[in-house]
Amino acid sequence: MPEIIDGNAAAKRVCEELSKKLAGISAPRRPCVAFIRVGEDPASVSYVKKKGRIAGEIGIESRLHVLPESVSQGELNALIDSLNADDSVDAVLIQAPLPGHLSERDSFNRVRADKDVDGFSRANLGMLCQEDPRAFTACTPAGIMELLKRHGVQTAGKRAVVLGRSIIVGKPMALLLMQKGADATVSVCHSKSENLKEICSQADILIAAVGRPGTVTADMVKEGACVIDVGINRVPSAETKSGYRLVGDVDFESVAPKCSKITPVPGGVGPMTVAMLMSNTLAAYMRHLQGR
Ligand code: GUN
Repeated sequence: MPEIIDGNAAAKRVCEELSKKLAGISAPRRPCVAFIRVGEDPASVSYVKKKGRIAGEIGIESRLHVLPESVSQGELNALIDSLNADDSVDAVLIQAPLPGHLSERDSFNRVRADKDVDGFSRANLGMLCQEDPRAFTACTPAGIMELLKRHGVQTAGKRAVVLGRSIIVGKPMALLLMQKGADATVSVCHSKSENLKEICSQADILIAAVGRPGTVTADMVKEGACVIDVGINRVPSAETKSGYRLVGDVDFESVAPKCSKITPVPGGVGPMTVAMLMSNTLAAYMRHLQGR
């Protein structure tokens, strides 16, 4: 059977390391991250709540700004501008997805680069592409790189296939895997890719980030591959109180026996995303203290 990569345990260790680091810093104020949530999408409500709780456990202050679903781009921009200008705020996060009438791209780009702990602005994505160490890197891909490192998964010279081309996961994931030091040979697949099965079955490392349950089946996976499941999909369930359960993009039952290592859902990538957000927030705070 494969090694099940325990994201909860890894995230706990990262957060303990951050708490220790923070305890060693003497400064007149704590780090502060501002969350912007638009509307009441249940998944976003739950994610932002979790981010705030973990921040509090580490000693990071969080401030939640909730805007109505009907908010205009101008009103959202005004809030981003005020947080950019607020010296008591180190980090700004706009929870995605935004309602369709708002531009995620314009909103992400409006966040000051040195407060953009999500790494979704053109400034940070550009720096990542240039392999500039000052880049804030998107938290989910950064968390996956950390999981690979902490679980001894070799990337150099290996074939990595990324399923999904989003700004949040797929694109930065591909950049991180191909950059110097990681040195993987990377393919990116998406909804229009042909021969998906053939491409995926060559992967030593397969990363699924498409947001569709059951996308990766056993016939798409090479024997001994490391499979990372980024999907967090809610499917109806009569067995849970909430009426739903969480499943990934990978058909875990059939795929796991073929893998050397695999992440579960929940308890795999998700907790590491939050841990990397805390890591980026602490880095933003330290830069802020040092005059950026
Ligand atoms: N929605 C899904 N993942 C993320 C993330 O990492 N950051 C933000 N801001 N929104 C998300």
